[in-house]
Amino acid sequence: MNSNIILESERLIFRQHLPEDMNAYYSMEMDAAVRRYVGGRPRSRVDAEARFKNSLKPTSSSLGVWAAILKSTKEYIGRSGVYPHINAAGIIVPDEGFLSFYIARKFWNCGYATEAGQAFVDFAFNKLKLKRVLATVEVGNDASIHIIEKLGFKLDRKEEGQRSFYHFSLDNPQII
Ligand SMILES: CC(C)(COP(=O)(O)OP(=O)(O)OC[C@H]1O[C@@H](n2cnc3c(N)ncnc32)[C@H](O)[C@@H]1OP(=O)(O)O)[C@@H](O)C(=O)NCCC(=O)NCCS
Repeated sequence: MNSNIILESERLIFRQHLPEDMNAYYSMEMDAAVRRYVGGRPRSRVDAEARFKNSLKPTSSSLGVWAAILKSTKEYIGRSGVYPHINAAGIIVPDEGFLSFYIARKFWNCGYATEAGQAFVDFAFNKLKLKRVLATVEVGNDASIHIIEKLGFKLDRKEEGQRSFYHFSLDNPQII
């Protein structure tokens, strides 16, 4: 298996970001529809480039957000993963991670976020042996809420603010 690859699902490969992903990544970050519930506004090209450079940093950890590549066409379709839970004091909470999925608009409603989400929940519980996976979704992001609930997450609380968020969690059934 290519050493950049961290995980595979039926239709997707998840690997470290590579320079060849840049243009697809920028288009996704500069798309107002994609950014509506994640940040609220499209990123500028400069911001997207800075963020992409961050994604390219080599990592030895299995916790992170990975490029999602469609096996059938080798296209970059977005990113997904379980990234570290850093609490308000800036400390990494052991045994926990946050689920993330982010799919370019052209590929919406094909089941890719659900497939990626399920693959990373299984990975987090079976391989990384995390006790709990968390997910935060902005109120109004109904497709995302639907997926998170389909994956079995339970609502812990709603955070009200200028932008409001639902906080979900899912416990590892093998570690109680
Ligand atoms: C939210 C997002 C991840 C969904 O990705 P996707 O690949 O289209 O998702 P899937 O195809 O796996 O599933 C979408 C599900 O939501 C449903 N759905 C779509 N639009 C919906 C809406 N407005 N309200 C409720 N459900 C909706 C679909 O019917 C489907 O459910 P089903 O498979 O049970 O029929 C994608 O739109 C995205 O990346 N948005 C921008 C970034 C983002 O918001 N990320 C999530 C941050 S929490």
